[in-house]
Amino acid sequence: CGIVGCVLKEGKVAPILFDSISKLEYRGYDSIGIACADEDKINLKKDSGKIAEVDAKLDLCDLEGKYGIAHVRWATHGDPSKINSHPHLNGDGTIAVVHNGIIENYLSIKEELEGEGYQFVSDTDTEVIPHLIDKYMKTGLDLTQSVRKVIGVIEGAYALAAISSAEPNRIVATRKDSPLIVGIGDSEFFVASDYPAILKYTNNIAFLEKGEIVILDEDGVKFLDENDQEMTKEIEVIEWSPEMAEKGGYDHFMIKEINEQSTAIKNTLNEKDKVKEIVDEVKGTINRVVFVACGTSYHASLTGKYLIESLVGIPTEVLLASEFKYSAKALNDKTLVIFISQSGETADTLKALDVANETSKTLAIVNVRGSSATRRADYVIQTQAGPEIGVAATKTYVSQLVAIYLFSALLGEDHELLKRLEKVPDYIEEVLQKRDEIKEISKKYKRDKDAFFIGRGFSYPIALEGALKLKEISYIHAEGYAAGELKHGPIALIDRNIPVVVVIPPGQDHKKIMSNLQEVKARGADVLGIGAVGDEDLISESDDTFLINCDVDDIIAPLVYIVPLQLLSYHVSVIRELDPDKPKNLAKCVTVE
Ligand code: G6P
Repeated sequence: CGIVGCVLKEGKVAPILFDSISKLEYRGYDSIGIACADEDKINLKKDSGKIAEVDAKLDLCDLEGKYGIAHVRWATHGDPSKINSHPHLNGDGTIAVVHNGIIENYLSIKEELEGEGYQFVSDTDTEVIPHLIDKYMKTGLDLTQSVRKVIGVIEGAYALAAISSAEPNRIVATRKDSPLIVGIGDSEFFVASDYPAILKYTNNIAFLEKGEIVILDEDGVKFLDENDQEMTKEIEVIEWSPEMAEKGGYDHFMIKEINEQSTAIKNTLNEKDKVKEIVDEVKGTINRVVFVACGTSYHASLTGKYLIESLVGIPTEVLLASEFKYSAKALNDKTLVIFISQSGETADTLKALDVANETSKTLAIVNVRGSSATRRADYVIQTQAGPEIGVAATKTYVSQLVAIYLFSALLGEDHELLKRLEKVPDYIEEVLQKRDEIKEISKKYKRDKDAFFIGRGFSYPIALEGALKLKEISYIHAEGYAAGELKHGPIALIDRNIPVVVVIPPGQDHKKIMSNLQEVKARGADVLGIGAVGDEDLISESDDTFLINCDVDDIIAPLVYIVPLQLLSYHVSVIRELDPDKPKNLAKCVTVE
């Protein structure tokens, strides 16, 4: 979910809230709602559906008031419906709350409140918050003191913002385990889940820590520490520009971000000196590496295992963040645990980071500056992809890979690889110039229900990521498999015309992958070979090919061979008349476990 709150010195806040919350649609798009208030009344509009649909119905900017809160939802408790949409109100509509996260003990709180006569209208966990605030305000506490009391009662993860018509022109917000930044403009003050919401209005940001409270009003921003003492916070200036979070003439964010990949790689390569400092510190002190991540970041991590084991020889494992804690006892102070996360806010990853911090050295590779992971890990490598809005990760993925390549090559003192990385942006540009070839091939996939992606060694994680991209944005069931493993089961599913994408760069495994290609071909599969220019065997055995500069061998293939697969899933999604930027049931940043 995404939340925004804004207080203006002058004027009508609804259009600003609408604009800001629209920038967070990538965080959830099953419902939207805005509550604005003037002197004595909260005005609310909300419903389920994408922002544009709800706006067409309700005209969300047409709300009076110079302060307010807004929300986009990714459902956790209760289906996407008007009644479950945020903001949630207390009984007489004088308090409104938006919340991102999960209140784990909401059932017992709800029961207690119901026993006291409070009536609930939604199925959400969030609704306990406005009722609790109402209860505390009725005992004479103000909004801020009531929010403090709420924090003492609720358990779980939250970033929340509350308004009360009893205290006009004020927003009180707090957080624990879900992100919340504070934006300080000249005449407008914000809280928001992420930067894109406020970049248009201000670059001055403060980060709220667990248990701290921020109070926004017309005169500015006040921070309270965990003991309610007023505190000063460092204000950081964020270099991202508002244009970076716009489509800039492209049909979708995803295709814009695919096209930005060579720049993202160049910028991330500039982090080399900082990576070297970290390598110098950990070198000689570790005998094991564990990567921890979710989704696409997990696939970047798998490439890290191949790299570190082959270049450095240190045993390396890759664990899903949600499964990490079961391995915690096997960690010690000679283990380096590397967390990969574009957002730096994924709840599963942050929980694992807390566990690892107890015993081991931790390194976070993160794209969003100031995000929770960057503040909790011992070491941080900042990828330089710029804001990524498309839900399916593309430029952040290749940037994570670059950070992992830099780290591994510096640790293994592989100077030749370091030099070769400099050429990767050009290889990617070459692929992008041939994007129409992939667009043409993608037409074949329009009516497919299943697809396989196979690779071996360094090309195995490419196959996994290619399959994930296709399934998440085109809803075609796709499996990534180790090419050698296919014959041990899944080959039973290979049939006439089933598409199999074979990722086959030049290198030590080429012949073996070629044999695996022939195995599926013999069962009638429709083969798309992603290989090197001049690979005549591949050309003659495949139904279609996409060919890449032959200097890109298996070692650096993960950085380049993924690009045609991203383009393939993008075009298949568009041909199937889907929205690649907003795949159903997904959100870019999942802040619940
Ligand atoms: C979500 C997104 C995925 C992403 C994963 C990890 O599930 O839908 O695209 O790969 O989270 O996100 P992170 O920010 O930790 O890289």
